[in-house]
Amino acid sequence: MSSFRTVRGMRDFLPEDAEKMRCVQRVARDVAQLYGYQEVITPVVEQYDLLAAKTGEEIRERMYAFKDLSGRKVALRPEFTASIARLVATKMMTQPKPLKLFCEGSLYRYDEPQYGRHREFWQVNYELMGSDRPEADAEILTLTYDLMEKLSLRDYHFKIGHMGILRGILGQEHVKEEQQSMLMQLLDKKRWNEALKAAQGLGVSNHCLTVLKNVFETWGKDAVKVLGKAKSLVEGYENAVAAIENLKEILELTRASGAKFEMLVEAGFARGLEYYTGMIFEVFVPRIDVALGGGGRYDKLIELFGGEPTPAVGVAPGIDRIVLAMEKQGIFAEAQRAKRVQIIPVKEELRVKAMEIASALRQAGIPAELEVMGRRVSRALADADRRGITHVVVVGPKEIEEGKVVLRDMQKREQKTVEIANVSKEILGETA
Ligand code: HAM
Repeated sequence: MSSFRTVRGMRDFLPEDAEKMRCVQRVARDVAQLYGYQEVITPVVEQYDLLAAKTGEEIRERMYAFKDLSGRKVALRPEFTASIARLVATKMMTQPKPLKLFCEGSLYRYDEPQYGRHREFWQVNYELMGSDRPEADAEILTLTYDLMEKLSLRDYHFKIGHMGILRGILGQEHVKEEQQSMLMQLLDKKRWNEALKAAQGLGVSNHCLTVLKNVFETWGKDAVKVLGKAKSLVEGYENAVAAIENLKEILELTRASGAKFEMLVEAGFARGLEYYTGMIFEVFVPRIDVALGGGGRYDKLIELFGGEPTPAVGVAPGIDRIVLAMEKQGIFAEAQRAKRVQIIPVKEELRVKAMEIASALRQAGIPAELEVMGRRVSRALADADRRGITHVVVVGPKEIEEGKVVLRDMQKREQKTVEIANVSKEILGETA
């Protein structure tokens, strides 16, 4: 048989890459715990109609959709929010609110593979359900900020807007919801002129076209200024004014909570997913032009899936792109100074002693690997160097007789003879 390759857009994760991904997941899980989000696990395969309902044209067209062997139309999940909304609507409606749910896993979109864009990718996902209050939106923003900080990412900014601004204007102009969603898709792609033409085609007033054009041009880092200007622009469009006031309150609360991220507030910001009803945002870092994560408020989805009316807000940071950003910023290189010890017995008779020392180190929480290839010390040292081992414990006959071993610091290229009882302290740098 000819040699097989991975399918286009799919990737293998070799140990170094897998470790980076797990590292982000570990931090994300810690953040979930700190904020009181409980994990749920939902299936990769869902009914097509569920996933397609409000996902937006772009993702809908790129779903891995197929009929299973019983002829059911199913798809691989392109995101988590629809599944979580289904889960809550069908199984958790009686649970006390708010519901705070966390999940992580792989998602599938038939996107054109390119930098930061894959057909199988990973997200962590946080959903806060049951509250329509601005402090819930502020919590999702603050949580996302905390995640970025705990990952040691630098120079990131949040692009923030509110779906209620554009939908408020268009709704008052009697543009139907599906048509509004079509315009949002164009705006999500920054195709402002086409959106204006399409709005004109839908029969909106000339005044509305002027307002929309001005709204698209209203953005900046100073939230108070941007929102002040946007509010005067949309005067007369009641729901749009209310949306701006809501966003102002959310951002004030977020700031008050101590989240110090840079904001880019855009009055005409839209996201492709159709379920958003309120605040929306995305996170960016310099030199990567795709978002690291995105989220927002969606107050109607759970109801649409048969649950009680349940307002909700959430975020999905994308692990693959976070890893790219951390690589670019050299964050993994800094973290890789973690201790990794190898224990090398000089002779076969010292294998048991070496195993004892390895387990004692592990007991002390130090990652310890035994030399299992029967290599001579010089070759074993060269191998340890190549594999990024930070310390080597050489178990030799002369030293063992005195209850000692040779401890070699692979980075400093220094070695000394130490008491076996002191090896872990030496490695951890805890000796006087
Ligand atoms: P989204 O903006 O479609 O939102 O995706 C969130 C993140 O997933 C993106 O910012 C990106 O990091 C990652 N992502 C998306 N597509 C790809 C891809 N093809 N390759 C690599 N990474 C990708 C959602 O999925 C919403 N469910 C977020 C949400 C949760 N809203 C409310 N709650």
